[in-house]
Amino acid sequence: MKVDLIIKNIGELVFFEEVHDKPELKTVNHAAVAVQGEIIAEAGEEQDVLKKVEINSETVIIDAEGKTVIPGFVDPHTHLVYTGCRHNELQLRLHGKSYLEILKAGGGIIQTVKATRSADEDELLNLAKKRLDIMVSYGTTTVEIKSGYGLSTESELKILRVIEKLKNISPVDIIPTFLGAHAIPPEFRGAREEYVNLILNEMLEEAKKYSVFCDVFLDEGAFTYEEAKRILTKAKELGYKLKLHADELSNSGGAKLAGELGAVSADHLDYPDEEGLYKMGKSGTVAVLLPGTGFFLKSPQKPPVGLMRKLGIPIALATDHNPGSSPLYSQALSMTFGVFNYGLTPEEALMAVTLNAAKAIDMHDKVGNIKKGLQADLLILDAHSYIHLIYEVGHNLVETVIKKGKVIKSKQNS
Ligand code: NIG
Ligand code: FE
Repeated sequence: MKVDLIIKNIGELVFFEEVHDKPELKTVNHAAVAVQGEIIAEAGEEQDVLKKVEINSETVIIDAEGKTVIPGFVDPHTHLVYTGCRHNELQLRLHGKSYLEILKAGGGIIQTVKATRSADEDELLNLAKKRLDIMVSYGTTTVEIKSGYGLSTESELKILRVIEKLKNISPVDIIPTFLGAHAIPPEFRGAREEYVNLILNEMLEEAKKYSVFCDVFLDEGAFTYEEAKRILTKAKELGYKLKLHADELSNSGGAKLAGELGAVSADHLDYPDEEGLYKMGKSGTVAVLLPGTGFFLKSPQKPPVGLMRKLGIPIALATDHNPGSSPLYSQALSMTFGVFNYGLTPEEALMAVTLNAAKAIDMHDKVGNIKKGLQADLLILDAHSYIHLIYEVGHNLVETVIKKGKVIKSKQNS
């Protein structure tokens, strides 16, 4: 079998294998990965891989110099399209105001909505591209991006069109999510029912053309359980897959609703109750934890990771990149926070930013692992073990990024 690309001399190759129906992290030393077009053709011990593949003068050969190769990072929860920054809020919070107090006083998300509404598509596209390029430099090869800073039909569609354009100019796989139910916009203050009806009767249908998922911010200060249920039920009928910002600031029944509606993921989950988690476990809903947000908001509450493990809920990690609660780009940093603040093991943390993150956006048949037949999305790390991602806090170890078999960041251009 002829191959287009081969990575040789891998010191530690990291991937996941099903053992008794549960994925386990495995490592192989002295390994190689062979790629045909966009797809992984072979991966494993170098001597075995070399026996199975044919290398000719056109095959690109990368010498990994004994370093570590892992799957490309998947970031399953971001709000990447916005303009304006909110460092003023950081100051307020450092002086004791809470995120919720700022939100309820008309700050927070609404400040970004005002700025984003007045920006044109090109400006938003340039800003989002710049942010995505930073993420790629940190090893993200697949990303979910939400709308939610428009909150009118026209400006939500503007954001979704920007996400669509971003898909055309970036090598990264982008999964778009409609989040019209992110906050009640200022012109509907005191008339929240009307805004919910606008989402139900107009936005959902128009946004469908651009979106795979529908998400709702169900929490104190945002949307209620009943409102979220109405919106997500209609979204499901229209063919959206479902996500939920659930139990971030208080226990609002988010985990329960996500489980009952069969959402693909429920995100945040700082305050879920046992019943809700039990329902998520039954429906196979992935828990997307956002430890960068917990860190940045100095949240006293941590997700009940032990119970999630016990109930067999897959745990993913995401940056939640947004200008208010988590200006984070790096999934390696999500891993570090996940381990030190939420008690994940290093194995769980790596699985959470690759395999389980891919499950959280229903992309695990294509990305999130190094396995024959999956997309060749690979990272070469300047380290002899993936554990350095957690150990070398804040340092970017990602030396080479390969997306669909093509090098999109290399040592030379880093
Ligand atoms: O996921 N929780 C709701 N939305 C974002 C915050 C957005 C913002 O503050 O601008 C989040 O944390
Ligand atoms: Fe979010």
